[in-house]
Amino acid sequence: MKAIGLTRYLPISDPQSLVDVEIPKPEASGRDLLVKVEAIAVNPVDTKVRAPKDKVEDAPRVLGWDAAGTVVAVGPEVTLFKVGDPVFYAGSITRPGANSEFHLVDERIAGHKPASLDFPQAAALPLTAITAWEALFDRLGVSPKGDDAGRSVLIIGGAGGVGSIGIQLAKVLAGLTVIATASRPESEAWCRRLGADHTIDHRQDMPKQLRALGFAHVDYILCFNDTDRHFHAMAEAIAPQGKICSIVENAGPLSVGELKSKSATFVWEFMFTRAMFETPDMIAQHRLLNEVARLVDAGKLQTTVGDNLGAIRADNLRRAHALLEGGQTIGKLVLQGF
Ligand SMILES: NC(=O)c1ccc[n+]([C@@H]2O[C@H](COP(=O)([O-])OP(=O)(O)OC[C@H]3O[C@@H](n4cnc5c(N)ncnc54)[C@H](OP(=O)(O)O)[C@@H]3O)[C@@H](O)[C@H]2O)c1
Repeated sequence: MKAIGLTRYLPISDPQSLVDVEIPKPEASGRDLLVKVEAIAVNPVDTKVRAPKDKVEDAPRVLGWDAAGTVVAVGPEVTLFKVGDPVFYAGSITRPGANSEFHLVDERIAGHKPASLDFPQAAALPLTAITAWEALFDRLGVSPKGDDAGRSVLIIGGAGGVGSIGIQLAKVLAGLTVIATASRPESEAWCRRLGADHTIDHRQDMPKQLRALGFAHVDYILCFNDTDRHFHAMAEAIAPQGKICSIVENAGPLSVGELKSKSATFVWEFMFTRAMFETPDMIAQHRLLNEVARLVDAGKLQTTVGDNLGAIRADNLRRAHALLEGGQTIGKLVLQGF
């Protein structure tokens, strides 16, 4: 089958950094679905895994942790799906990614694709929707039923892939007052279109901008970009007994002591945790994706596609990685068809 892979970890400007390859088609066993991949989305995890280093792979390594496609075979223990079902999912970082014609995914972390979206529109959602959902509802403990409606959340990195769905979940499901960060007119307009009540600039003093909007503090903070850079501002802006969730690993030490006097919570979200450790509740991601699909089909959530870069080929994928590495993409980049 066709796939895009790497054997060496090279700068994205090098044509060998991602190449078109032929690899064996996998077979479904256990709880795996074999999916014919129709569309993929690209995430910073791809560029982080691909980052230049000396290591050399014996066989092509396939990246890509967002896909939409059709189930073409199932393992003997599969109970949640059948052949012919359209699905969307992110997959597991411990297994090969989905940048291939056919791909295996455990049914417990796959969802039924929203019927109202085409494959590229659906491929944009899984990884970021799982991340934002788990961050908001599982880690911060915000009620998805609106019990915390009217409380405030600061979403740092509002126009990115995670922010784009995070704004919608915070607004539509939780009923929070959403302050999203954006540093350019086009990213600001995108955040507002997705439901942000206010926007501030993450390149300027954020607590000062919040105060100017009338927020002495915010009840929740979702840090979807550069935890190191924003930590002090978050510690200043969070309300006493408020909660901060970050999804971006720190490069240097974080001064968590700054949160002590406010009894503020700091918590991590990593969307691969459940699949990586095969936690007993890993099926929660199947249910979560089905719920996202239901909300999309009900017209409550919208896809977050920013741009469709065309066929799933190494040249287009290199372009997607280069754009992501630029740090200014709005919404999701998707590719479609082999
Ligand atoms: N832990 C997890 O499970 C998990 C899951 C998904 C993603 N992540 C991580 O979360 C981060 C964001 O992912 P993503 O897919 O949303 O990224 P993305 O789509 O590449 O984010 C692009 C956006 O980031 C904004 N941005 C750039 N620099 C920023 C800064 N210093 N502060 C705040 N915003 C900034 C830009 O907005 P402007 O143009 O307005 O500046 C741009 O719209 C990545 O580091 C990714 O690896 C972690």
